[in-house]
Amino acid sequence: MISANHYVVNDHRKFVNIALIGFMGTGKTSVGRLVADMLRFDFIDTDELIQTGTGRSITDIFNKDGEATFRTLESQTVGELAGRTKAVISTGGGLPVNPKNLASLKAHALVVCLWSSPEKIWERVRHQGHRPLLHDKDPQAKIRELLAAREPFYKQADVLLNTELRSVREVAQQVIHQFRLESSGRR
Ligand code: S3P
Repeated sequence: MISANHYVVNDHRKFVNIALIGFMGTGKTSVGRLVADMLRFDFIDTDELIQTGTGRSITDIFNKDGEATFRTLESQTVGELAGRTKAVISTGGGLPVNPKNLASLKAHALVVCLWSSPEKIWERVRHQGHRPLLHDKDPQAKIRELLAAREPFYKQADVLLNTELRSVREVAQQVIHQFRLESSGRR
């Protein structure tokens, strides 16, 4: 299990954006929208960009072309964000598994990972049907399995925040606090 508030920025980067990574149902979209609102930054969602760009739903891409095609589109989308500034980027849950994606985000963004337990994630996603990876006969086992496999990748974020016992507003404030701390120390 990843500990909450584990803070690991120790290199010399310049942050002009904030990227939120983490498993499905950890609050990336709701936190991201609020952070963007509070900072007057643009809100960008990589899944939305893919859907707008292809004119197709994520489920349709997974079902007809397979996960590999989706991952290629995901990597292209992340690469295209390099020139952006003042953006909060919410990312699909599997995106950091490709090290190139994380490296690409780290070149311009403070990377914050939102974390929750498998039980809390299940509580949040159980009534939503738009995630193809959870169209499984045992979605709870699938969550546990994917979360365990992805933990080493999520741990590479600059900041890890446990969202389980915090409101969306509290998490958003924490993200902004870390971003200000890091940006002011580096300019
Ligand atoms: C995925 C998470 C989804 C979406 C796709 C695959 C994953 O995004 O990118 O269904 O691999 O965990 P959210 O994390 O926003 O649900």
